[in-house]
Amino acid sequence: MKLVKLTPETELIGFDCGDDDLNSFLVEDAKGFLDKRIATSYILEDGDNIVAYFCLLNDKISRQDVTNSQWKKIKGGFPERKQFGSYPAIKIGRFAVSSKYKGHNIGTDLMNILKGMLGESPNYSSFRYLTVDAYLSAIDFYRKNGFRMLSEKIQNDHTRLMFFDMMELE
Ligand SMILES: CC(C)(COP(=O)(O)OP(=O)(O)OC[C@H]1O[C@@H](n2cnc3c(N)ncnc32)[C@H](O)[C@@H]1OP(=O)(O)O)[C@@H](O)C(=O)NCCC(=O)NCCS
Repeated sequence: MKLVKLTPETELIGFDCGDDDLNSFLVEDAKGFLDKRIATSYILEDGDNIVAYFCLLNDKISRQDVTNSQWKKIKGGFPERKQFGSYPAIKIGRFAVSSKYKGHNIGTDLMNILKGMLGESPNYSSFRYLTVDAYLSAIDFYRKNGFRMLSEKIQNDHTRLMFFDMMELE
């Protein structure tokens, strides 16, 4: 298997992770998001098969996104002179494993590759956290991969904001 960055030339064949929005994003939207500099997608390929994909975009964790107690914990991780109203993050905009490959640790392996890749890439810019609007059905998957709830506040019917602290890799 190999991880490739989506380009305008990437041939996109069918992908089915069991979720229509995630399936159609890859085939219909990912190139447009790249073209307009909204998000960059990465595809895990196994020969001609798309095993999984994710996309990334810039984000921040702001005071207003978070409960008071969670914000205290986040701010407490910084010395006083570095306590700001928001901290830089990278958002996992989409993350999906093909139904054919689910349950074989591929999601976890891919998450570790993603973290390693972002942790080691040349520091043209800095960020502290990964964020994700986790589907309710995927919350346990993210928990098992070191993500925590950013806010217990209900955002909407089907997602919760979660985060991972990149300092945990050090
Ligand atoms: C969620 C998803 C990415 C997980 O990928 P995967 O390759 O099946 O996950 P893994 O095999 O690495 O699972 C790792 C652990 O998370 C658990 N897990 C995986 N998917 C889960 C889910 N949907 N709900 C609860 N737990 C889940 C597994 O049981 C496993 O636990 P274990 O280590 O105790 O056995 C995949 O199921 C998927 O693409 N789902 C549809 C799309 C989706 O929900 N994407 C997330 C959008 S926010």
